[in-house]
Order: sequence, then structure tokens, then C-alpha cells
Amino acid sequence: MPQASPPADRPERLAADAHGIAAAAGLLRAGKLVAFPTETVYGLGADARNDLACAKVFEAKGRPTFNPLIVHLRDVEAAEGLAEFSSMARDLAAAFWPGPLTLVLPLRSDHGLSSLVSAALPTVALRVPQNPVAQALLAEFDGPIAAPSANRSGHLSPTQADHVMHSLSVGVAAVLDGGDCPVGLESTIVDASGRSAKLLREGGIAREELERITGPLVADLTPGRIAAPGQMASHYAPRAALRINSDLRDPTRYRIAFGPQHDADVTLSESADLREAASRLFGILHLADARVAAGDFTGIDVAPIPAKGLGLAINDRLLRAAAPRP
Ligand code: TXA
Ligand code: MG
Repeated sequence: MPQASPPADRPERLAADAHGIAAAAGLLRAGKLVAFPTETVYGLGADARNDLACAKVFEAKGRPTFNPLIVHLRDVEAAEGLAEFSSMARDLAAAFWPGPLTLVLPLRSDHGLSSLVSAALPTVALRVPQNPVAQALLAEFDGPIAAPSANRSGHLSPTQADHVMHSLSVGVAAVLDGGDCPVGLESTIVDASGRSAKLLREGGIAREELERITGPLVADLTPGRIAAPGQMASHYAPRAALRINSDLRDPTRYRIAFGPQHDADVTLSESADLREAASRLFGILHLADARVAAGDFTGIDVAPIPAKGLGLAINDRLLRAAAPRP
């Protein structure tokens, strides 16, 4: 059963030597969060296959929405195990990995990642960092590491271990201190999931360099693009009609409780733990949607979720799912 409240202690600073890297990998394996340097900025790392660890990332950052996370990998072979690469995506990877380029690609069906990583989108953002400390950590951990920038939501991105220590205090087990990040700017994000590549975020690699491979790039740099309700609806919403803040009294509907299940069909968390609820949210919505599609229920009802901590992101997601769709 997960802890009801996150640990109050501050992160431990680990030296970027063999001992520190082994300790950091051990913490990640145990489902803890470890901040680590990349050539762009420090990332707040979690085992990308572990739902609870990924929920902790949103909690520690105080993110009010489930933005999808970038998955960091050792090399292109590891990346090809998670996503489908077009020949253009392969060319981009060959030219810029390891380095400050993130590729958004269609997820493979056998990806094994937490649904929080892609926020239930059919695509995933992947990157192979160049920083030797990040590379050593990925080699030692030997798995995918989900990592947004290691700052509190809305704060500046960290380029030194001290920045991380000051910005994130709760819920982060350790910071691997690898000195300054040389690029100091987030990675460039290119959506290479369709036929023509789109630039989603300017960053560490100049546009002209990319265009040598992609040809003229369409830019889609609208801030919060991914969070725009209209865009989210098609990807994020269950097909079934969903009601929030329900009293769960209608047995013709698939009833999702928060806290003890009683006569609901499932609970997000028996102990009313928001972290556990966040970690189970997408899986339960998929299941609920399938039961409605099968004709077992007429729709989905969800109990009220407290509007604090991770409850903000859960409510944001549920509101979008409940919004009327075209
Ligand atoms: O340099 C970087 O990219 C740093 C280091 C730590 O690698 N990471 C970083 O992550 O900046 P973050 O979470 O702060 O930014 C990730 C961005 C978000 O804007 C998110 O919306 C976008 O990547 N993203 C992730 N998955 C996506 C997807 N499937 N489709 C479109 N955008 C996606
Ligand atoms: Mg960021």
C-alpha cells in the first residue's frame, strides 16, 4: 500500500562516480525519483515502466496536468523497442542521437511503458541523451527513464544540481551531481509520427540543421498545444459518456470510486491515496471504456476527487474526458 504522504526529507546529493551512479540506478529500480544531468537541463527521472514512480513525478513537480513525459534511452536500438520509426525518423536519430533531439513517434503495442508516460496518447516522446553521466545511468539502470525537466511546474529549468535542490524538495530521493548542463536549453522536439515532420518545440538543435534531413519543417509551437481541450479530446477521451462528481448510485453505469469500493465496480484507491489513484487512472478508464463498449454498462460515473496535490491533474483529465465531443 503506498504511503499517504510523501517523504518530507530533502534529496540526497550523489557524486557522479561509479558509486553514485550505482546508487542512483538502485533508487530508480526501487521506484524512487532521481534527478540527473543531461546535456540540455537536469531531468527528474523515474522508471518509465512503473506507474507509481511516474505518478510521483507529477506530484513532485506539482504539475496540475498529466503532460506526457520524455523517455530517455541508451541508444537507438532501445528506442526502436518502444516506438515505430519511419525512415525519416531513423535518419533524424542517426544524425542527432545521442544529443538534444526528442522524437515523437507512434508507440509499439508491446511497449511496456506506464500509461502516464504518454498520458494515454498513441505516441511517445523519446530521446537518447549525450551527457556521459546520463549515459552511465542509463547503462547501469538498463531500462527506459521517464524525465521531465527537474523543476517545479512553472519554474525555470535547472542547469545545475543546486537548482534542482532549490526547486524540488519533496519526493525526490537523490540528485546526481554532474555539474553544469552545457546546452542549458531543453531539447528540440520533432513530431515524426506522421508523413511530414512537425517542429513542436525549439531547443538545443537548430531548425536549419533538422531541415537538412526533413525538408521544410511545419512548426506547431502553440504553447500548451498538447493541452488544448479540442486536441486532447480525440486522443485522451474514452468513447463512453463519462460523468464526474457522481454519487455512484446508478448501477447501469460503470462506477469508479475513490476510497473504499463499497458497491462501485472499481476504486482508484481503496485508501483514498491520490498517488495510487493517479497511477491507476488511465488503466481504469480504458477498462471502463471497454465494458461500456461491450454493452455491459451505459456510461461511466466517477466519484468526486479532492482538488489538491495530484487530485488537480486527475480532475483536469476527468474534466476533459467528460467534456462534450463533436
Ligand atoms: O531537454 C529536455 O527535453 C529535458 C531533459 C530532461 O531531457 N526534458 C524536458 O521535458 O524538457 P519536459 O517534460 O519539461 O517537456 C516535455 C515536452 C512537453 O512539452 C510535452 O508536452 C512534450 O514534451 N511531449 C511529450 N510527449 C509528447 C507526445 N507524445 N506528443 C507531443 N508532445 C509530447
Ligand atoms: Mg519543462
